[in-house]
Amino acid sequence: MSDNDLEYTFLGKIHRIISTTQLANICTYLFCFKQWIYWGTPTDVWFSEHIHQLVQPRFKQINQEHTLDLLQLMIDAVHSEKEGKLTPSEMFSNAFVFLTAGAETTSISLAYCTYRLARHSTIQEEIYNEIIQYWLPNIDYYDLVMNKLTKLDNFIREVFRMHPIVIQVLNRECMENTRIGQYNIEKGSLIQVDLHSINFNQDLWGFQSVDEFHLERYLEKRHPLANMGFGAGPRQCTGMRFALMEIKSCLTRLIKEYIIKPTGEEPYKLNIHEKFLIMPEKVCVRLVKRS
Ligand code: HEM
Repeated sequence: MSDNDLEYTFLGKIHRIISTTQLANICTYLFCFKQWIYWGTPTDVWFSEHIHQLVQPRFKQINQEHTLDLLQLMIDAVHSEKEGKLTPSEMFSNAFVFLTAGAETTSISLAYCTYRLARHSTIQEEIYNEIIQYWLPNIDYYDLVMNKLTKLDNFIREVFRMHPIVIQVLNRECMENTRIGQYNIEKGSLIQVDLHSINFNQDLWGFQSVDEFHLERYLEKRHPLANMGFGAGPRQCTGMRFALMEIKSCLTRLIKEYIIKPTGEEPYKLNIHEKFLIMPEKVCVRLVKRS
């Protein structure tokens, strides 16, 4: 995307929010939703107005038939008579979170994936061969990308291990005084998961060096909490399966049609920034059409 696109497109606006805002700002902003006033940068204002335009018409149409999507589930929860229903401001805040959480995360993952594909040509060819093996007439594309392509699946797991994207939101409040080993954790403490230490812990990840990119480490079963790129437990990422489907779908098409190569401007090191998300400054690869 050029700077111009980033300024004016919908995804460009999301990019600006994620790349310029810290979590605290987002929280303040959500509070503003509650007050029904907009207070933020022009991008924030544009974004909240867009969400209102999207939600308001459907919100007013009670008892009409709609597609059963996530937004509709939330609107139904607002209109519900049951205990624990959503308030309208909670619904708007959640719509905001879904749009922002769902766009830039997937796009950064794809950037890391293409970076790794360009660096590991043998792995790329193995994934390509797997795609070709299952790419039959009348394929069920969803079944193919989600269930058949195990090499692609392991590749994405390894990319998430080496390049965690979301860390700041991966925390929990301690609900009762707890002792773990030599540590006393008081009720009310905020526990932040240190994803990097987990992802690069040699004890958890087998024989191959944790600093190297290896798919073989997934041939063995790993600790269920070793890979927490999408979090864990009841508050695990709501969009995990959707994100994986998008990433796998996109990579399958890309690898089937193109060979992804380095640009030739070696040494090729990523310049990583940690803002709300952990992202590379840029990723440049070369696409060569397969003959
Ligand atoms: C590669 C893409 C993504 C990554 C790496 C990612 C990562 C995460 C992580 C680490 C959490 C915190 C989970 C926890 O505390 O246990 C989270 C929460 C969340 N994610 Fe994602 N996410 C991605 C894509 C998406 C998408 C596509 C959506 C929506 C369409 C989404 C919606 C959410 C929501 C709503 C939460 C809050 C869940 C809750 O607190 O109950 N995410 N995500």
